[in-house]
Amino acid sequence: MTHTTEKLSSKSEVLIEKENKYGAHNYHPLPVVLDRGEGVYVWDVDGKKYYDFLSAYSAVNQGHCHPKIVGAMVKQAQTLTLTSRAFYNDQLGVYEEYVTKYFGFDKVLPMNTGAEAVETALKLCRKWAYEVKGIPEDQAQIIVCENNFHGRTTTIISFSNDETARKSFGPFTAGFIKIPYDDIEALENVLKSTKNIAGFLVEPIQGEAGVYVPTEGYLAKAKALCEQHNALFIADEVQTGIARTGKLLAVHHENVQPDILILGKAISGGVYPISAVLANDTIMNVIKPGQHGSTFGGNPVAAAVAIAALEVVREENLAENAERLGILLRKGLNEIAERNPLITLVRGKGLLNAIVINCGEDSDLAWDICLRFRDYGLLAKPTHGNKIRLAPPLVITEVQIQECLTIIEKALNDFK
Ligand SMILES: Cc1ncc(COP(=O)(O)O)c(C=O)c1O
Repeated sequence: MTHTTEKLSSKSEVLIEKENKYGAHNYHPLPVVLDRGEGVYVWDVDGKKYYDFLSAYSAVNQGHCHPKIVGAMVKQAQTLTLTSRAFYNDQLGVYEEYVTKYFGFDKVLPMNTGAEAVETALKLCRKWAYEVKGIPEDQAQIIVCENNFHGRTTTIISFSNDETARKSFGPFTAGFIKIPYDDIEALENVLKSTKNIAGFLVEPIQGEAGVYVPTEGYLAKAKALCEQHNALFIADEVQTGIARTGKLLAVHHENVQPDILILGKAISGGVYPISAVLANDTIMNVIKPGQHGSTFGGNPVAAAVAIAALEVVREENLAENAERLGILLRKGLNEIAERNPLITLVRGKGLLNAIVINCGEDSDLAWDICLRFRDYGLLAKPTHGNKIRLAPPLVITEVQIQECLTIIEKALNDFK
């Protein structure tokens, strides 16, 4: 086994050192310093080109610096950037109509980041539970799944089981019941056990946990159970949404329409922080002026950018591309796994995929493999130790997928 990697240039080292010295150490980035992106490619400060196989955690589904999306942002930025919601503006209503028709809901509540949108959905769900369902004040419970990832605010980490994200951040927010993921019986048991369930918050595929795809039928059954017990089915599609898994939404694989839909990341194509919570009137109308908001949420630039980003998804058939090329990618990865026992499992849907490396979660092997991918011109990052997520921008072509498979196999063979 070889462990040598290309040495970083002094330019990269200086920039990394600046981040280390002046920035909080809340991330552990792969050592590569990028200064340009276009489509499926990014370049480092020394001009080396890479395939991006992370897509900023599925934010850059439309490819880096998509000219239509960047064009919409520049045009709007030169016209009107921020009014706050103290006044109306000429972009927001147009966007609200567009996005609600696009996803099939009555209303949208615009926010900025994924975690903010999750917080918004939780507040909305609780308020609906008290004011519409009739749960006694402060008694509402929301069901969540083990190994979830919904962001890192205080309420969200309250129901995480990632001890790194939780340790020394308590006290936590009450009102959540955790059940195993992909366990329909567990969901039914909790729904039956109390009348105080307001909703069920779920990732249609658990991305950060290592791209766990639930059993076919799980989401449809979970939605039906929620309906039966008058609890809201809340889909966090921040990572899985907007064509990533081969359908516009991952819940569409099972023909499910959530009661509350949470979107982020790719709703801007990665050019601007935009998130959204969508629901029908019976739910969304519980929110009244002053009860929730954000200075930047739904600003004119965000509105213009989101419309352009969603148009690109349709115009360039990104869901179909993700579906078709995802099949090809998994086939290629499975073939590599037959030749190289380092891959123990390939899983995913569309272009949200992961390989599980034959080592423990505490091993450095997956990290070292990602360094080798980098040396050979492909950027990916381990998640939960021994899983490597493979999620390129959805504009990738068949020829490029084949080239990436060659890089992946070559790198893995160095560790045989
Ligand atoms: C499913 C899911 N929900 C929420 C979030 C949080 O989004 P953000 O980092 O924009 O706050 C993420 C981020 O990775 C995510 O994957």
